[in-house]
Amino acid sequence: MVKKLLQVLAGEPVSPPPIWLMRQAGRYLPEYRALRANAKDFVQFCLTPELAIEVTLQPVHRFDLDAAILFADILLVPHALGQKLWFAEGEGPRLEPVRDAGALTKLSYDPALLAPVMQTIKGVRAALPPHVTLIGFAGAPWTVATYMIEGQGGTDHAASRGLARDRAFFSRLMDILVESTGAYLIAQVDAGAEALQIFESWAATVPDDLRREAVFEPTARIVKAVKAKHPKIPIIGFPRGGGAWLADYARATGVDGVGIDQMTDMPAAARTLPAHVAVQGNLDPDLLLAGGEAMKEKARRLVEAMAARPFIFNLGHGVVQPTPPEHVAQLVATVRGA
Ligand code: CP3
Repeated sequence: MVKKLLQVLAGEPVSPPPIWLMRQAGRYLPEYRALRANAKDFVQFCLTPELAIEVTLQPVHRFDLDAAILFADILLVPHALGQKLWFAEGEGPRLEPVRDAGALTKLSYDPALLAPVMQTIKGVRAALPPHVTLIGFAGAPWTVATYMIEGQGGTDHAASRGLARDRAFFSRLMDILVESTGAYLIAQVDAGAEALQIFESWAATVPDDLRREAVFEPTARIVKAVKAKHPKIPIIGFPRGGGAWLADYARATGVDGVGIDQMTDMPAAARTLPAHVAVQGNLDPDLLLAGGEAMKEKARRLVEAMAARPFIFNLGHGVVQPTPPEHVAQLVATVRGA
């Protein structure tokens, strides 16, 4: 069975384009909320294969998407490094901040803590329809580092930007994240992931003069390590907010596909990229929330504008919680020409 998503990531345009959505599994789905209600702790929810398998499959079964994305979280890597992580109800992630050399020396990656994720991948692969691709993922080092340093989301990353200029601290933290994330992604492919996405959700808070050492180089080292073990695995990089430097990012990191956010003119950005690099994006999640003709019209225009390229339809960021699930069904039908 030919998998459309893998065809596109090999550089081949496919019509209609494959579609999946960031955060396609999550709180906007009543069947997700029903399962989530039984698990108090979000980390344990992610690390219980029986639940994570079911949640991964929920949107695929409901909408017949072209890809499943592993149900997990980018903050499982800090968890496996031994950093204390918890999700405060309604407030998002909390971590015990890592801000000095002493805290760094305590970090040590224990792959056994993430073994349940590999069980989830095996279980999902066994259950997926043959035309659906399973995407594994991890956070990029800078994005994960911002949570590790700040100890929470929702800040302006002042502490992270400050420590990024402390060479000894920052290069050690990047090394730790490159090594652990590389090992984690390799294990995901060993377990059955067929493509990978690296989420650089906070690319936009990196100052221009630090982009090479905070974004390009750490990501390039991970891509290289994964491809040394699995030369054929396609990797999508998603530097959210990186619209102005996507071509440099693609060239510097060696990714096979680039995710594009909704603030960026996708057709224009795509023209700056090498022709073989697949492009993924970029419908505004607020248009999916609103649904109706405005959403359909924009989706049709994107499909048309991207027809000549290897293109994966997605949002510019994750599905937002109040989104009616019916809008996702309408979007999938629109992209497929209905
Ligand atoms: O469907 C999927 O996309 C797969 C699963 C997935 C989750 N998180 C599940 C999740 C993926 C790919 C992620 C990635 C992730 N996690 C990112 C990068 C993508 C992005 O959104 O920019 C980031 C920054 C995180 C960190 C994180 N996890 C935050 C900031 C939060 C709290 C905010 C929120 O939406 O609640 C989480 C929690 C989280 N991760 C939830 C889900 C479904 C909600 C938790 C719950 O059910 O209570």
